[in-house]
Amino acid sequence: MAMICKRLFFFVFLFISFNHMQAQKGIIPEPYTVLLQEGNFSFSPRTIVSFNAEVLADEVVVFNDFLIKYYGISLKTYSKVPPPNAVYLKLDKSLQGEAYQLEIKSTQILITGTETGIFRGLMTLFQLLPADFNGTANLPCLLIQDAPRFAWRGMHLDVCRHFFPKEDVMKYIDYLAMYKMNTFHWHLTDDQGWRIEIKKYPELTSIGGWRKGTLIGHASDETQKTDTARYGGFYTQDEVKEIVDYAAKRHITVVPEIEMPGHSLAAVTSYPWLSCKKASDGVATGWGVFENVFCTSDSVFTFLENVLDEITPLFPGEYIHIGGDECPKVNWKTCPVCQTRIKELNLKSEEELQSWFIQRVEKHINSKGKKIIGWDEILEGGLAPNAAVMSWRGMESGVEAAKQKHFVVMTPVSHCYFDYYQGNPAAEPLAIGGYTPLAKVYDFEPVPAELNAEEAKYILGAQANLWTEYIGDFSHVGYMLFPRLLALSEVLWSPAVQRDYVSFRSRLLTQFDRLDRFKINYARSIFEIKKTVVSDTIKRQLSVELSQEFQQGDIYYTLDGTTPSTTSMIYAKPFSVLSDCELKATVFDKDGKEKGKTSQTFSVSKSSGASIKLTYPPSPYYNYGSPYTLVDGILGRIPWNGKEWLGFSDNDFEAVIDLGKSETVSSVKVDVLKAEISWIYMPEHMTVSLSSDGKDFYVANDWSLQNDPEAGRTIGVVIKPSTARYVKVNLKKFGEIPTGKPGAGNGAWLFVGEIIVN
Ligand code: ACM
Ligand code: ZN
Repeated sequence: MAMICKRLFFFVFLFISFNHMQAQKGIIPEPYTVLLQEGNFSFSPRTIVSFNAEVLADEVVVFNDFLIKYYGISLKTYSKVPPPNAVYLKLDKSLQGEAYQLEIKSTQILITGTETGIFRGLMTLFQLLPADFNGTANLPCLLIQDAPRFAWRGMHLDVCRHFFPKEDVMKYIDYLAMYKMNTFHWHLTDDQGWRIEIKKYPELTSIGGWRKGTLIGHASDETQKTDTARYGGFYTQDEVKEIVDYAAKRHITVVPEIEMPGHSLAAVTSYPWLSCKKASDGVATGWGVFENVFCTSDSVFTFLENVLDEITPLFPGEYIHIGGDECPKVNWKTCPVCQTRIKELNLKSEEELQSWFIQRVEKHINSKGKKIIGWDEILEGGLAPNAAVMSWRGMESGVEAAKQKHFVVMTPVSHCYFDYYQGNPAAEPLAIGGYTPLAKVYDFEPVPAELNAEEAKYILGAQANLWTEYIGDFSHVGYMLFPRLLALSEVLWSPAVQRDYVSFRSRLLTQFDRLDRFKINYARSIFEIKKTVVSDTIKRQLSVELSQEFQQGDIYYTLDGTTPSTTSMIYAKPFSVLSDCELKATVFDKDGKEKGKTSQTFSVSKSSGASIKLTYPPSPYYNYGSPYTLVDGILGRIPWNGKEWLGFSDNDFEAVIDLGKSETVSSVKVDVLKAEISWIYMPEHMTVSLSSDGKDFYVANDWSLQNDPEAGRTIGVVIKPSTARYVKVNLKKFGEIPTGKPGAGNGAWLFVGEIIVN
């Protein structure tokens, strides 16, 4: 595509009116270049869309569909020579793929490109219409030249944990189209439900599509409760065709996911002969990882091939997703069929058996002219020859696969899991855990620095995943998706050098007006008051700073747990917290309307505000910048929220706290997390050592899980009151996750929230 000189852009920019800036300000993802020009195009109900009906009819129908659905307006269409005052769509084969050019002149709007490019251009035009569009609008004259950075710009939806009917799925596809995403990853089968009709195996949906109840609350709650309402649903093949066609008309490819060999309890419940044990306790009603998986018998492969033979013709895209994640191998270890298979094939382990399983399925899918993509566990035991990898547990597997010359889609839990919290959990609907705020998504870079230019070509792009264990209705889907989808779309579409969070944030406000108009639910978490507990290690005090991403008014606060009003203390500068208290803060705008809030309980101890050093760094995925979070007077929250916890996976934990002067120390406690469903375990052992000089330490006391297996989240030791300035805490990680638990065989994580010295 032709380059537009950025300097020229600035020159012209000086002459444009405020209106122009307003109109252009809203586009997300930000186009490659926008050249604003003098003049306006007057968009009115008389504006006509002119196009070549043989090739561009679908694009026009869909554009009109967007106008009708979201603005209640439609345009007349005309398939001959463009009259004045027309939107003229013209194929231009010199532009490739998704590239387009959108030119607004005072007499005409001209969009050129391939069919796909023109559709993306129409979505830009859709965004240029103001949020209060009522059929007429003055659009600024401009020239946009645009093309995406990545070929795979995906968004996933889990319809198994909760089911969303066809109409919701279509709305979801609309949302993706609006923001120029091009891939919809449809997670269709899992332990909690099989959601696609397979004519040869009707019980997959008549039995496997339904469960007897659903977990209430969080999977890591102490006591587990389940309701007794039969829950489920599925898509008929006709509905699937309709959805795939709907997506295709929006230039979105649907990638179906049929999970194997794990996450297959719904299938195994429908046909128990699919499992090693030839039995099942039923479709799962709770969340997690289940041991009852597909056996490796020949009849399982016949079944899977028959299923895939019905799946592949329904999805015209290149890839079929075969899952491959989180497959417990316990049953395989004792199953005569699986063990014979291992011997006959001369395999070394159950991991190699899984690799063989995936390769066998790959051969079949390849024979149908399709390719497989799978979660990054498919690297274990050897990657199937033509497989693409979805790197979810981090970026490392993606790097490894790219180095092996396999295509990769990046979707790391650190940046791309939209089921994680996006704001203060106290103010958010219940979520699985984690912390992925908008700014973090915006900060995501899909191409890791350790890849050279040749290897980087294997990174197809990225996607975010929306697992729905805790998302029961479609409005909540909107809440988790927006505004993070907008950040992701800009990461994946716009040039990396152009990325600018401040600019994005200002354009976001325009988008919020549109989402309001379209009655699409979105999270307002970024309007929350941000609180930062800043280190005042000289005074050894907690100092609390309050701020807003968007200045919406003054912040008023209380420290006694009462609800703030405009007569409460007004926030002017950071304040000290010297004893246990409950902070509540609210922003009121000039009309006294509440605009955002926050709250926080502080537990102040001798270590609060002390200086702290960690001997080994936390995992980069669960390290929010500073070890100070362990002495900030804030216990980690449950469900775990990455921001308040530091996570350790490679190393044990060692911290040295400097109390600043000699103090009497009589107890040391540590706030640790137990969330086995997320692979997070209590430590095996804790040692507390004291020192007066920070060099010579003596062991004051220790604790072990073995002696205290029922320990709660705060573990610790009492010490004969001793004088010390330095306190060292060592925690030994749990080790390997036991058989039968989620993540069995992997190393357990250790999460630490606070160290409390008294
Ligand atoms: C996954 O989140 N289990 C892919
Ligand atoms: Zn078996």
